[in-house]
Amino acid sequence: MFKSVITPEMHYDDWAQQYDSDVMGWGYHAPDRVFDKIKPFLKAHPGQAKILDVGIGTGILSRKCRALKRDIHVSGVDISSKMLDVCAQRKVADNLHRVDVSKDRFPFEDGQFDIVAAAGLMENVDNARNAIEEMVRVTRPGGLVAFTYMPTTRHPLREKLAKKLRPGRTREGRFVMGDLNLFRHNPEGIKTMARVAGAKTLSVDRFVGYRTYVVVTVDYDLFAGHKIKGLQ
Ligand SMILES: C[S@@+](CC[C@H](N)C(=O)[O-])C[C@H]1O[C@@H](n2cnc3c(N)ncnc32)[C@H](O)[C@@H]1O
Repeated sequence: MFKSVITPEMHYDDWAQQYDSDVMGWGYHAPDRVFDKIKPFLKAHPGQAKILDVGIGTGILSRKCRALKRDIHVSGVDISSKMLDVCAQRKVADNLHRVDVSKDRFPFEDGQFDIVAAAGLMENVDNARNAIEEMVRVTRPGGLVAFTYMPTTRHPLREKLAKKLRPGRTREGRFVMGDLNLFRHNPEGIKTMARVAGAKTLSVDRFVGYRTYVVVTVDYDLFAGHKIKGLQ
C-alpha cells in the first residue's frame, strides 16, 4: 500500500484551527451517532459520570455530553497537540493528554471510566488492537465502550475514493484532499479484539459518516460494548 508521508499528527495539527467549521459544514455525523449511543447510559448514571474521549480532537463529542449533563468528569487523549490546544481553549475537558493510541499505554489506572468513547479516530489507526485493549482496560466493569471505525469494503472504487477524498487543511489554511492514509477495519476483527480485551458486544450500527462534496458517501460502523463484570 502507498504510505503517505503525512502522519495523523501533522495532518490534524495543521487542520486544528479550521477543523470545527469545516466538519460542521460537511455534515460529519460520527460524534452525533456516538453521542446518541451513550446518551441513555449517561442520563441513567446516578452520580458524576467519568468519561474518556479518545481522539478527542477539538472536543465536539464531549461538548455534547456536557450540554446534556453539566456534572460530568471528562478526560481526553489525542495525538495532535494543536487539536488538544483548541480543545483546552473550549474548556470541555477536565484533563487532556497527548497519547498515540496505536502504541501508548493510556495514562490512567484500570477501570476508571464509566464511558470510554471515540468518534472518527480509528480510520487513522493501523494498530486497532492497542487502542481497543487500552479503551477496555480503563473502562470500569459494566461500563460502556463506544467507538466508530470505517469498515472494510468489497468495493475497490469506494475504497479508493474515500482515501482520495479525505479532507484536511495545510498549515496555511489551504484545502487539501487525500494526503493521509486511511485504515479500514474488519467488523468481525473489531468484535474479536473487543472480546479478547474483555468487552461484550452490544451493537454494531452502520451509518453514513459524511458526504464528500462529490456525492460519495463514507460509511462508518459504530461499535458499542460493555466491559464484562468481574474483570478489573
Ligand atoms: C476526525 S478527528 C475526530 C476528532 C473528534 N473525535 C471529532 O469527532 O470531532 C480524528 C482525531 O483523532 C486524532 N488521532 C489520529 N490518530 C491518532 C492516534 N494514533 N492517537 C491518538 N489520536 C489520534 C487526531 O489528532 C484527531 O483529533
